[in-house]
Amino acid sequence: MHRAEQVLYAAMFVMPISGYLYVMAGGYGVNLFGAVELSNPIGERESLAIVAKWTHILSGYALLLALAGHVGLVLRHQLILKDGLLHRMLPGRRADR
Ligand code: HEM
Repeated sequence: MHRAEQVLYAAMFVMPISGYLYVMAGGYGVNLFGAVELSNPIGERESLAIVAKWTHILSGYALLLALAGHVGLVLRHQLILKDGLLHRMLPGRRADR
């Protein structure tokens, strides 16, 4: 697995978890569609909110870089190497074709 893919997978977990921790520990809460207020199982904790906020912001930038790297890699395979990588990423295709 390429480094960009590892970062994409990590971001898939780190982003929503750190975002949730930030708004809960920061005491902002989550309101779904202006109708349902989610309960706060963490309680307000300033230091956790700061760590979660910076984790969220920095992993957001890491995600952006990994996305750009991933798109660049796929374009290189598709346009220069012409090995059908994009075809293999599409649903319904086998990895060995
Ligand atoms: C896959 C999920 C998520 C992605 C990709 C994502 C991405 C981002 C990005 C790129 C930013 C801007 C960071 C910056 O200031 O440079 C941001 C900010 C923020 N996100 Fe998320 N986020 C996700 C999930 C969540 C969740 C689940 C919550 C809360 C329930 C959340 C709450 C926030 C908040 C409050 C900010 C503002 C941070 C600030 O004070 O600057 N995010 N998010």
